[in-house]
Amino acid sequence: MGVAHNPQEAVIETRQLYKRFGQVTALENINIRIQRGEFVAIMGASGSGKTTLMNILTCLDTLTEGQVLLDGVDAAALDEEGRRRFRADKIGLVFQQFHLIPFLTALENVMLVQVGLEHRTDHLPSQLSEENEQRVLALLQDLHHQGRTIVMVTHNPELGRFADRIIRLQHGKYLSEEVQQHAVA
Ligand SMILES: Nc1ncnc2c1ncn2[C@@H]1O[C@H](COP(=O)(O)OP(=O)(O)OP(=O)(O)O)[C@@H](O)[C@H]1O
Ligand SMILES: [Mg+2]
Repeated sequence: MGVAHNPQEAVIETRQLYKRFGQVTALENINIRIQRGEFVAIMGASGSGKTTLMNILTCLDTLTEGQVLLDGVDAAALDEEGRRRFRADKIGLVFQQFHLIPFLTALENVMLVQVGLEHRTDHLPSQLSEENEQRVLALLQDLHHQGRTIVMVTHNPELGRFADRIIRLQHGKYLSEEVQQHAVA
């Protein structure tokens, strides 16, 4: 079942977002808007701040300065229990190989924790990884077509090509973005 949405509406928005770990500034003045139903890839070199950003966008961590609006809710207004509930209701997380860390927000529950690894113990790790990557990607595309919002962190340009837009980070800062045109099937 699809999720109705207003294409102009930002479901995720960061405003002058900073995250510091002691002396280390992991994120510096990040201002991004992700529209409802969009498929966005976040890319950047190791240490550029991708995981830090994802942790904040998924309410797994809090910010140091600035604002994050998630589905119209100021994340700062949520206490730990509120964040837990928000995650449970609106966010699905898929972790794979520490390279592909997408999440989805939806008006209804999306919980995607398993992708069928338990039946694959007879496969070689490299095979498993490649096959599993394709499965996760197919699943994400399905959910995207249903109107879900997808944010995917990846180092892999081949995977990044499936996104509507690529946002690049560098040394904790927004570097650039690129809208990708996809052929209509
Ligand atoms: N818990 C932490 N304590 C201290 N510094 C941290 C912590 N988490 C991240 N950092 C620092 O913040 C910066 C961004 O790290 P982050 O893990 O977000 O990068 P990344 O883009 O996800 O890298 P990778 O591609 O290697 O996963 C790095 O300088 C990192 O050392
Ligand atoms: Mg990371």
